[in-house]
Amino acid sequence: MDEYVIKGGNPLVGEVEIGGAKNAALAILSAAVMTDETVTIENLPNVGDINVLLNAIKEIGARVDRVDAHTVKINGSFIRDFNVDNEYIRKIRASYYLIGALLGKYKRAEVALPGGCNIGSRPIDLHLKGFSALGAKVDIRHGLVLAEAERLIGTHIYLDKVSVGATINIMMTASMAEGKTIIENAAKEPHVVDVANFLNSMGANIRGAGTDVIRIVGVEKLHKTEYSVIPDQIEAGTFMFAAAATKGDVTVKNVIPKHLEATTAKLLEIGCEVEEFDDAVRVVASKPLHHTQVTTLTYPGFPTDMQPQMAVVLGIAEGTSTVTESIFENRFKYVDELTRMGAKIKVESNIAIINGVERYTGARVNAPDLRAGAALVIAGLAADGITVVDDIYYIERGYEEFEKKLAALGAMIEKVSSEKEIQKFTLKVS
Ligand code: UD1
Repeated sequence: MDEYVIKGGNPLVGEVEIGGAKNAALAILSAAVMTDETVTIENLPNVGDINVLLNAIKEIGARVDRVDAHTVKINGSFIRDFNVDNEYIRKIRASYYLIGALLGKYKRAEVALPGGCNIGSRPIDLHLKGFSALGAKVDIRHGLVLAEAERLIGTHIYLDKVSVGATINIMMTASMAEGKTIIENAAKEPHVVDVANFLNSMGANIRGAGTDVIRIVGVEKLHKTEYSVIPDQIEAGTFMFAAAATKGDVTVKNVIPKHLEATTAKLLEIGCEVEEFDDAVRVVASKPLHHTQVTTLTYPGFPTDMQPQMAVVLGIAEGTSTVTESIFENRFKYVDELTRMGAKIKVESNIAIINGVERYTGARVNAPDLRAGAALVIAGLAADGITVVDDIYYIERGYEEFEKKLAALGAMIEKVSSEKEIQKFTLKVS
């Protein structure tokens, strides 16, 4: 089992290149099967979840040609099987996008009920309600979501809760339904816009993505396209917080600074300097960090996927901070691990009350999920002594070459797979 071993204390300094957005790419890859022509997708992050989805797409018959680590060509004309189920796909959340894509194109889908990070109960009722409203018969049997329709007919859908997944999924299906669909209370995240742009480049007719009302006029067929995925705002934000925690100076390149505004605002509030360029952001943390309050919200609010990384930084900022999680009910599982590193955090319902300590102390910790795993790595980089982060397959689901990018910024971090390698690293750095 792979682990990260880290010797903390080095400020991160230098430049880091951000990859394509995982959560946009997962939806775009699924939508790519909606045409019988060949679609080329660039700026794909080479991470675990993407590879699991590509394998599932291959398993149902589509041609998947991995041109290089970040480019893929997909041809969906060979799909003969509408049943998507294997032990890996069951574990990722974004498998749900194949329901929307297959249902839109073939009026039929059988997809394993999605898993994903264990950050609370994660229903997909809004997705299913949306498919039903478009005319599909939807059922859950033997761990599969079964959706089928004679005809899909555009309609007016109001989402009871703002959901990124439901917005994108319904948008995909509605793109190939008859007539007009209006999605109200839609999610406004940058990847909703990216998927809409991608579908439009395939001939779909979607207007209003990025606002809370999306209007879609269904088309009969979609066609080939070449498309480049937007940069990953969460990967970018993770490096920005790593710069803050280690008192570093990091320029995060290949980003859209507008997508990072909530993160930038919080970094400024706690005493970092943030400089914005056209497609880069520089974070300098030369002064003591101070406390603040943060609440996770849907875009353009502070992203829930950034919450653990922010909490790790506040854990070593002066004074008492609060972090309120308003999207997922169980997203503080990393707190116990961080406590082992000396953090003083108390969780009351969905609020973490954080009393800043001077520094963390290295310890052996487990990554409980993807983003919390990355946050524990940040804690290790800022800690005194050696930290070992276990269960890093979670981190590898969403971060490409995380340890290599950090090492290039001056971090002392290695991926290891045995006690012996940990000892070797410890000897080397002491
Ligand atoms: C996506 C992201 C995830 C991110 C989250 C919020 C992917 C693969 N995952 O997850 O990284 O943390 O957006 O930005 O893109 N809800 C329902 N019923 C539904 C759907 C959602 O009640 O049918 C609730 C959820 O439990 C949650 C809230 O709505 O409380 C938002 O969830 P949603 O935006 O749908 O998140 P995911 O698509 O699961």
